[in-house]
Amino acid sequence: MRIFLDTANIDQIKQGVKLGVVSGVTTNPTLVSKEGHKDYKAVVKEICSIVPGPVSAEVVVEGTQAMLEQARQIATWASNVVIKIPSTVDGLEVTSQLARENIKVNMTLCFSLNQALLGALAGATYISPFVGRLDDVGHDGMELVKDIVDVFKKYDNLTTEVLAASIRHPLHCVSAAKAGAHIATVPYKVLLQMMKHPLTDIGVERFLADWKSVSGDK
Ligand code: G3P
Repeated sequence: MRIFLDTANIDQIKQGVKLGVVSGVTTNPTLVSKEGHKDYKAVVKEICSIVPGPVSAEVVVEGTQAMLEQARQIATWASNVVIKIPSTVDGLEVTSQLARENIKVNMTLCFSLNQALLGALAGATYISPFVGRLDDVGHDGMELVKDIVDVFKKYDNLTTEVLAASIRHPLHCVSAAKAGAHIATVPYKVLLQMMKHPLTDIGVERFLADWKSVSGDK
């Protein structure tokens, strides 16, 4: 499984890449606006220049023609940009057309196996089931990830990668890995939480204290 960062925060992206474990970034209009970025193109280009892998940038218009035109524009911004298209009927048409033009699509806002199936058939490179938002409404978001992974494994023509999104806490990452998700996209805070363990901290402290007591270091 690969880890992407789910953020538009440049410092967090730089730090995540420095840790050597982040191989992509996903953004959405909410994340971009949260950081106060005004120039969408400039920020996407900057993120693409930092990250050694795919960077998802979402279309922010409606209607097939407008989405297609914007997607084609965004695709010229960087060689590693991936276009996020919503899992709607219009989105399906746009995804199919972009796939024919060899433009990579991350089909986003996926909440059902049927949406994932159609997205894969349309030629999406990634499909993003939103785990946390399903949990929010009393469904088991990770069950959907499992279902998509299981069904895609059964058929050679379903080669779309499953990108577990709307990850809220470290247990989501554990479950995404167990479910066989190809990628989990995580907020920076969750990335740090994944590496944290109190027994590691206690162990480090004890080793250093013991070392100081024999070596005489203060
Ligand atoms: O990866 C999608 C993500 O940005 C949405 O997360 O927490 O707003 O559901 P959330």
